[in-house]
Amino acid sequence: MTSTTDLSHLHRFVPATVSGKPPILLLHGTGGDENDLLLFGQAVAPGFALLSPRGKVLEAGMPRFFRRLKEGIFDEEDVRQRASELADFIDEARDTYRLEAPIAVGFSNGANVAAAVLQLRPEVLSGAVLLRAMVPLMHPPEADLTGKSVLIVSGATDPIVPAENAAGLAAILTGTGAMVDHRTLPVGHNLSQADILITKTWLQHR
Ligand code: MLT
Repeated sequence: MTSTTDLSHLHRFVPATVSGKPPILLLHGTGGDENDLLLFGQAVAPGFALLSPRGKVLEAGMPRFFRRLKEGIFDEEDVRQRASELADFIDEARDTYRLEAPIAVGFSNGANVAAAVLQLRPEVLSGAVLLRAMVPLMHPPEADLTGKSVLIVSGATDPIVPAENAAGLAAILTGTGAMVDHRTLPVGHNLSQADILITKTWLQHR
């Protein structure tokens, strides 16, 4: 495993041990870091290459991928800028580690930035798993997500993501051509065993 600051985001990279599988871009939630989702990544994508950056924004010392004004209210100028920086990092990492376009697997704030990257720089991702995601941009650009598959997994009792917001994200992504599979589990905001199973099964078909 490599841990490095050479690229524009502090990150960890775990090379693939199986061939023919897309790399996975792991994007942590608020207060997480580049180590947080590595075990989750190994559980859902055994043997796939894992690329796990740390978000550059600090909220009371907690790393995030973009600034928010309060819970669920985002600084959209910052969302755009940080999503673009993350897309640049993905390009750098693809060159450095010789990777094809990764599938993002993001949780919470990491899922939200992945959705923003899909809308702003769709070419850097081949698909995405968005765990407890919400709409990141009220006025997204016209993206063409034809050919991209997206799995959204929501929690029925999630106190942070209202059901209609998650459904809105699914509708927006579907409207721009993505093949969206939206599931809702009987859980809250935290990840569950069922998230691992659904994500693993979905990734097996990529
Ligand atoms: C966000 O800020 O991206 C969402 O509210 C989820 C969170 O990180 O709590």
